[in-house]
Amino acid sequence: MSEMVKLTINDKELEAQEGSLLIDKLLDDGIHIPHFCYHKALGKDGNCRMCMVEIEGQKRPQIACDTPVKEGMIVRTKSEKIMSVRKDILELQLINHPIDCPTCDQAGECKLQDFYMESGFYHSRVNLDVKNHARKRTDLGSDVMLDQERCVLCTRCVRFCQEVTGTGELGVVSRADHSVIDIFPGRPLSNPYAMNVVDLCPVGALTNKDFRFKQRVWFMESFNAICSGCSKGCNIEVDHRKEKYQDDQIFRFRPRFNDDVNGYFMCDYGRLSYKNEGENRLVNATINSEEVSTDNAIAALYSEVAKNENALFLVSPNLCLEEMQNLKAFAELTNANISGYSPQYFDESFGDDYLRKSDKSANRASFKEASISEDENEFKNYLEAASLVVVFDNNYFDENLKLLDKKKVISCFSNKSNTADNSAIAIPLASFYEKCGTYINCDGIKQKVVSGINRDNPSENVTTLLETIKTMLEKGNI
Ligand code: SF4
Ligand code: SF4
Ligand code: FES
Repeated sequence: MSEMVKLTINDKELEAQEGSLLIDKLLDDGIHIPHFCYHKALGKDGNCRMCMVEIEGQKRPQIACDTPVKEGMIVRTKSEKIMSVRKDILELQLINHPIDCPTCDQAGECKLQDFYMESGFYHSRVNLDVKNHARKRTDLGSDVMLDQERCVLCTRCVRFCQEVTGTGELGVVSRADHSVIDIFPGRPLSNPYAMNVVDLCPVGALTNKDFRFKQRVWFMESFNAICSGCSKGCNIEVDHRKEKYQDDQIFRFRPRFNDDVNGYFMCDYGRLSYKNEGENRLVNATINSEEVSTDNAIAALYSEVAKNENALFLVSPNLCLEEMQNLKAFAELTNANISGYSPQYFDESFGDDYLRKSDKSANRASFKEASISEDENEFKNYLEAASLVVVFDNNYFDENLKLLDKKKVISCFSNKSNTADNSAIAIPLASFYEKCGTYINCDGIKQKVVSGINRDNPSENVTTLLETIKTMLEKGNI
């Protein structure tokens, strides 16, 4: 490891590793440095020239993304000279830009707009009639739309497909001011991580067909969570909005940087899994297919468990650790057997050597911590002996309904399912993103999620469901 040296940035003395990139020091310390082409996951390319800084002793401004840190370096990021250079570079960037910001879905998240607002502010010297034009709406594949006119040719998208996925679908075609991003004929953007290019694009050139024009980003709120699409547990931001007279709704997932888990990216399957949250939800509690209040259904669940000597609880590997632990304690209290058997989540064709794992459940590792066995033989023995089966969000029986013949079934599910449809009692549960809890990923990393969703009529999670039983017992209501 190289040694730490002292340097001065904007009159403040700081330390950094000798030879490390100056832009990394600026970004790590939260010192504002406009940039388009540099990205920590992709490295330097030096093509946009936005990251110019003044370095004492150097005649001309230098790009911070290709400047190694040296002992005694004196750097200025916002001197008069630098502000003027940035203004000139922006003017060049905008020569052929269509200035169609009012109809651009990147508004609110566009670096070109942001940099113009802080260091541009000039009257255009280019007549709109002489601007170069290019294709405005190209479907590249994988739900990614390209507007070639808005592109600043930073090549982040090209480098992502070359360096991260190794699929190389994107390239720069034509020359000079006619250069544009494009795919090769008959070879659409098609890899399991393709939609990351939308997050990487600093402007409105690449947008996500699934999200574009659905929300103005400044109306949405975000909270940190993990993706539940597989056992990797990629870190994400959940963007949601509660519009007037409507329930809180999730509009998109975006990857959140975590060096220990997913770096900067996530897969498209996980990104689009937000849709499961709103679709096909189990909303009403039922007893023998008649709608009842949730409290009545919970009371009936307890009565059945209390009077039945051979009950089996089948638990989902997507429940949080706290829910699993509470269910384990409840099973012990009521002499029920408990199992986490859930082979249906394994899909060998899904896993790869990057982020995606063959186990498409979020929290299987917590079974061990909660002392819940997944053993197949044990599950089969418990099932054979059981006259009552209580299923907690585990879809194993959806394809194996016959195994439930002659057994009483109680379902606690967040989404509709075959199992819930064929149950004597069904109770709606909170979904993955509506509850707070702890999850352990495939590498043993424990991650806490605090939900920011604010539903009008929130469903119980397993923990609050069990608390409801406790309160009812204390009050003598069951
Ligand atoms: S499409 Fe976006 S990410 Fe790709 S080169 Fe253009 S501005 Fe950069
Ligand atoms: S790799 Fe797994 S956890 Fe990560 S985004 Fe994809 S499905 Fe979600
Ligand atoms: S970020 Fe340094 S040249 Fe583009």
